[in-house]
Amino acid sequence: MRALVTGGAGFIGSHIADAVEGQGWQVVILDDLSTGRDENLEGSGAELIKGDVCDREACLAATEGVEVVFHLAAARAVGLSVTDPVTSDRVNTGGTVNLLTAARDNGVRRVIIASSSSVYGGVAPLPTPEDAPLYPKSPYAVSKMASETYCRVFSELYGIETVVLRFFNVYGPRQHPRSPYAAAIPLFVEALLKGDAPTIHGDGLQSRDFTFVEDVVNANLAAAKVPEAAGRPYNIAAGRQHTILDLIAAIQSVLGTEIEPVHTDPRPGDVRASCADASRAEEELGWRAQVGFEDGLRRTIEWLRDQN
Ligand SMILES: NC(=O)c1ccc[n+]([C@@H]2O[C@H](COP(=O)([O-])OP(=O)(O)OC[C@H]3O[C@@H](n4cnc5c(N)ncnc54)[C@H](O)[C@@H]3O)[C@@H](O)[C@H]2O)c1
Repeated sequence: MRALVTGGAGFIGSHIADAVEGQGWQVVILDDLSTGRDENLEGSGAELIKGDVCDREACLAATEGVEVVFHLAAARAVGLSVTDPVTSDRVNTGGTVNLLTAARDNGVRRVIIASSSSVYGGVAPLPTPEDAPLYPKSPYAVSKMASETYCRVFSELYGIETVVLRFFNVYGPRQHPRSPYAAAIPLFVEALLKGDAPTIHGDGLQSRDFTFVEDVVNANLAAAKVPEAAGRPYNIAAGRQHTILDLIAAIQSVLGTEIEPVHTDPRPGDVRASCADASRAEEELGWRAQVGFEDGLRRTIEWLRDQN
């Protein structure tokens, strides 16, 4: 059986591609390598099509003979979408429509898309269930909400199975500190490893539900298999709320450092608090996060140390 992973050279996509290959599937990756890396594909048996999800021909070629698509390709950064909403809309919304259309034309059975906790916008109750109101606060979040809506419409119009996975702050090996708009964990670890003060946007009391990449991979595998998942959105999260100050303290405790963070202005488009109710994924996909926060941090820090 053949699977396509769009964005398969990126942080999360490359782990998914490895795991799907490990299940005996033939894997094709469609990635323009804009933020993805060749080194993430070392040892992979996947076929790489270097191309853009916005390119119709590339999506048609990539979906040929494919049964399941894991759609990860996106302009991932909230901050980038605030400065350049047009790109975020073109790649994330436009790329999703293009991919879904190619999937329809090639008779793909199921498309699993990487959505985001950002669709809730921090106004929903905590912990947040999937049926909470959606209130995007950045162009990135709008693009994810639009992608989710396209999935529903494609299911209803064309019968293609779609599953929406709303990831909450994913972290782990292969998440790079040196890419533009790098995520908080690799940035903090990198600063502390160098003996520098980590920079916090705002007071540090904003919270996130940090989810280890291996758990996210297993959620994708489950979403590919469970028939009843079609048409459903799922929160994919550890279901634990950590403030940024807690996070830095936990990293410092692993590293044995005691460096005072510095604070800058809050970032526009960021949500204040985020924590998932992930019970639907447990009940319907038989999935729950397994990796503890300290264990996940330790494994991430080990990988980042090796990069230096
Ligand atoms: N990292 C997180 O915490 C998080 C949280 C919620 C949702 N997500 C979603 O998960 C997915 C993967 O994110 P990630 O953290 O691995 O980011 P990433 O930047 O490492 O991966 C994105 C991949 O998509 C590729 N890509 C970008 N634009 C493309 C285009 N036009 N055509 C083809 N390929 C393109 C990049 O080269 C990269 O390999 C994204 O859809 C992101 O929005 C991530």
